[in-house]
Amino acid sequence: MPSDIRGATPAEVVRPSTPADAVVVRPATPADLAEILGDLPAFWGDRDVRHLHHPMFVHEFGDTAFVARGPAGVDGYLFGFVTPAGVGYVHTVAVRLALRGAGLGRLLHATFAAVARARGATSRKAITTPANAASIRFHERLGFAAEVVADYSGPGQPRVVLTAPL
Ligand SMILES: CC(C)(COP(=O)(O)OP(=O)(O)OC[C@H]1O[C@@H](n2cnc3c(N)ncnc32)[C@H](O)[C@@H]1OP(=O)(O)O)[C@@H](O)C(=O)NCCC(=O)NCCS
Repeated sequence: MPSDIRGATPAEVVRPSTPADAVVVRPATPADLAEILGDLPAFWGDRDVRHLHHPMFVHEFGDTAFVARGPAGVDGYLFGFVTPAGVGYVHTVAVRLALRGAGLGRLLHATFAAVARARGATSRKAITTPANAASIRFHERLGFAAEVVADYSGPGQPRVVLTAPL
């Protein structure tokens, strides 16, 4: 992980030597969201996840939503926000199937962490489903602790709650 991210502003973080020649991480815009929605299978395969992409994440929480852009467009993205209680909540993070395993997810998380910390967040949180083993392992590699919470999303709807200090 580049050490320059910790002190980064929401402006830009550039990391060379990624699958693209250079990836720029910057706050997500409505145009980025449109691009992502037009190419969802490239990020999620056949999973139907359009509901995860509410426009509020770029219109209202655009300062804590990020895209990693390479020469071909959006390579990965993270939508999050900071709660009034100081939790940096990561709603969703995704990287193009073809570019996974190259550090983009970690880079997006680090960028969000730096910005959330600057906004007063003292912890981070994300949730996923018990079936999403890849997401759980990814977050654990990033230092999150995973706990299954029964009925988190309603009766019979357990979720894995992922938490990490900030
Ligand atoms: C989860 C996701 C964002 C990870 O992105 P990525 O760019 O491939 O992740 P990185 O390359 O930055 O990996 C960071 C660390 O997590 C680990 N990791 C990533 N995916 C993993 C997996 N499926 N199983 C085990 N470890 C994994 C990497 O080995 C790496 O560890 P290291 O840096 O200590 O060596 C990506 O797989 C994805 O888009 N998945 C589909 C969307 C999703 O389920 N998102 C999460 C729930 S909203």
